Amino acid sequence: MSLDDSMQARGKVTARCTIAAGAASLIASVVTLSVVGGAQTLAQSPPAKPPATPSGQAVPDLPKVYMPGLGEFMLVIQTHHAKMWLAAREKNWALAEYQLSEMKEVFSEVQELVPKYKDIPVGDMIDAIVTGVIADMEKAVEQKKLKEFSAAYGKLTAACNDCHKAASRGFIQIRKPTRSSFDNEEFRPPRR
Ligand code: HEC
Repeated sequence: MSLDDSMQARGKVTARCTIAAGAASLIASVVTLSVVGGAQTLAQSPPAKPPATPSGQAVPDLPKVYMPGLGEFMLVIQTHHAKMWLAAREKNWALAEYQLSEMKEVFSEVQELVPKYKDIPVGDMIDAIVTGVIADMEKAVEQKKLKEFSAAYGKLTAACNDCHKAASRGFIQIRKPTRSSFDNEEFRPPRR
């Protein structure tokens, strides 16, 4: 969510609260009238109901911002990790570079959003074991050198597993993919 979106969302919440407050005072006066008229049931009914969407679903009072957990970020990292190898081994350097920069982006999101995971300083560990290796990979991609890329990829994969071990997740073992799990994607460079 961009800053603009979140400001907009906040604006909506304020508007909704104002409406809800208005509805609540209206209901309060109806309840007072009904109690006077002897209709006790209304007095027990819940206060202002949140407004409904066109589909009839109630809109919650406060927006819940979806925050992926470390495990979800890791699934995305896993995909980039696999795809960058599948691309590089076909010498599709543009795609390898793309996958590498996407993976880097997710790692920095993890550093920003999950700097600590159950007392594990995930953010600092990324700096310590991943950042240097990624720089080597960027160099290899830029020079279009598969041998260098392969060596750096091995180090990256070892760094994945080192952190998993350090985080008591040694059972999550990452390796170089032998074949594509993405049947709907071509990894060879486009023909021109
Ligand atoms: C800084 C530490 C750290 C690094 C580096 C790291 N991981 Fe993880 N990874 C974790 C932790 C912690 C978990 C467990 C998260 C949980 O339990 O919710 C995890 C979980 C995973 C999972 C399991 C997700 C699932 O639901 O199947 C995969 C896959 C994964 N990591 C892939 C990778 C890959 C690929 C790399 C390297 C490119 C990597 N990880 C690097 C800390 C790390």
